[in-house]
Amino acid sequence: MLFSRKGNVVGLDIGSSSIKLLELAEMKGGYQVRNFGVAPLPPEAIVDGALMDSVTIVDSIRGLANALRIKTKDVVTSVSGHSVIVKKINIPTMTEDELEESIQWEAERYIPFDINDVNIDFQILGPTEGSEELMDMILVAAKKDIINDYLSVIIEAGFNPVIVDIDAFALENMFEANYPVARDEVVALANIGASVTNINILRRGISSFTRDIFTGGNAITEEIQRQLNVDFDEAENLKLGNRMDETSQKVVQEVLKSALNSLATEITKSLDFFRSTSSQEKVDKLVLSGGCAKINAIENVIGQQANIPVEIANPFKEIDCSKRDLDVDYLTEMEPIMAVSVGLALRRAGDK
Ligand SMILES: Nc1ncnc2c1ncn2[C@@H]1O[C@H](COP(=O)(O)OP(=O)(O)OP(=O)(O)O)[C@@H](O)[C@H]1O
Ligand SMILES: [Mg+2]
Repeated sequence: MLFSRKGNVVGLDIGSSSIKLLELAEMKGGYQVRNFGVAPLPPEAIVDGALMDSVTIVDSIRGLANALRIKTKDVVTSVSGHSVIVKKINIPTMTEDELEESIQWEAERYIPFDINDVNIDFQILGPTEGSEELMDMILVAAKKDIINDYLSVIIEAGFNPVIVDIDAFALENMFEANYPVARDEVVALANIGASVTNINILRRGISSFTRDIFTGGNAITEEIQRQLNVDFDEAENLKLGNRMDETSQKVVQEVLKSALNSLATEITKSLDFFRSTSSQEKVDKLVLSGGCAKINAIENVIGQQANIPVEIANPFKEIDCSKRDLDVDYLTEMEPIMAVSVGLALRRAGDK
């Protein structure tokens, strides 16, 4: 790797409701949180994964970085949603170099976009079970114009983008760093954000299935807006339990209850689909992250309805958070929200 430099990177998760920034320092035997912060974005800044208001996003990144006195320039970020395709496929066994040569051609069959409009990446997983001639691989394609928008925003904010990852893979990276892989265990990760829910099902620690579902906290906020006839900000506040009279409290509770039910239904659909396409009878547990993982008792409601053990991810489980000036209470409060940024901050320039 010619340009690989060992050194810290900043994990920058540009979510549609907020920007998360995290820097981890590599220490003997692990990582330490050096710096982190979250800055809100207005709901119209990012819509359906597209950066609609770059100026606001750049200002927000710059403001957060300045407030945190971030010195590190290399940034790892990620994308997800409509402009990203992740597919597990099997193809005739070949070497990495051979695949590099033929990937454009192979990819064409699986990608619904013009091949010239996407950046392609892949990862070979290993031989296909029960076949001598085939191997499994993950094919990733992301629309160039979206990637370019993300890169421009990061450069404009004064940083140097070194890796553009996929949310679902960052999630996997976070999980791998914090939770031991039990043999034969199947774990479903679900990152429930504001506008999108990223699902990644790991089998023996390897990604077997990913899907983005286009639902999340915004749907809940919008329903509160409708029912109480208030604007987005007020509905968001009510959802978070701030400023509540008894009537609104009741409405919010009802909306949350039915939202959790539909989330559970969506997640169950993905789990069922995975089971039916992978000859796997069961998924051992579901690990939740993202802002919606903070909804009161979400693990019980989804666990009961989807009939699966559920836990909330702690992305700092194996990461040292003892640095002196770190606001540990705030970090603890933000745990599930920082899941993707932890996965990103663990990457290093030159990583595949
Ligand atoms: N305590 C809480 N109770 C209920 N919802 C919460 C809570 N905290 C955060 N949320 C919701 O979580 C969502 C934000 O989560 P997150 O930061 O993971 O999303 P994002 O990364 O900005 O968005 P996306 O990835 O979907 O573009 C918002 O809808 C927010 O209202
Ligand atoms: Mg997100």
